[in-house]
Amino acid sequence: MKPGQVVDSFLVDGKKIVLRCPRLSDYKTVHKFFNKAIKQSLSAGGQLNRITPVILKEQERWVANAVEKNTLKKSVYLLGFSNQSVIASTTIEKNPDQDSGHVGDFGIVLLEEFTGKGLGTKIANKIISVAESELKLKIIKLNVFGRNRRAQGFYKNLGFKEFGRIRKGINIKGKYTDNIFMVKYL
Ligand SMILES: CC(C)(COP(=O)(O)OP(=O)(O)OC[C@H]1O[C@@H](n2cnc3c(N)ncnc32)[C@H](O)[C@@H]1OP(=O)(O)O)[C@@H](O)C(=O)NCCC(=O)NCCS
Repeated sequence: MKPGQVVDSFLVDGKKIVLRCPRLSDYKTVHKFFNKAIKQSLSAGGQLNRITPVILKEQERWVANAVEKNTLKKSVYLLGFSNQSVIASTTIEKNPDQDSGHVGDFGIVLLEEFTGKGLGTKIANKIISVAESELKLKIIKLNVFGRNRRAQGFYKNLGFKEFGRIRKGINIKGKYTDNIFMVKYL
């Protein structure tokens, strides 16, 4: 997929949300977004793998890597914009192993103020259908924390089913919770 390619747009509370591929120049707004999302995650007891803030240089490299993987059909990485600011990020990465190229890993994050309005469901359905056609995927898998009941309900609604868990597999600042694995067959 091409840098900046628009995939869809949605209306949330009368505001237009544009879902598109990242461009190299997006790294500053992505940086603001991730550091806000990490803070929100920690104040909810931990929802994301990342705990420490991201530094700008690291974010720049990360966006460049995402742009390259999108172009090479190794992933579908999409950003949700409200005006010129990133408010959502989602990715499906194709498994790099030769025998597992039909399997993808899914992740999604919205800023808290955009949650609970059906936007996550719209974005997830879109990225799954784009990844199915662009990356030729047949199976999508993910991990979610035991403490994150909202995300578990969200994924179940999308048709994901738990296939296993590592008890106390997640440690957020000394507090342990299960690492739950879910799968959806397309
Ligand atoms: C998880 C997330 C992507 C869901 O997106 P969203 O836009 O908030 O979800 P939607 O409004 O589309 O809700 C869809 C479903 O989620 C479930 N859900 C939402 N809030 C819930 C809650 N508090 N408890 C249980 N299930 C809940 C419901 O099944 C809901 O369907 P319903 O409205 O028909 O009942 C979003 O809340 C988010 O980014 N959270 C912070 C980061 C995060 O946890 N990411 C996932 C890491 S694994």
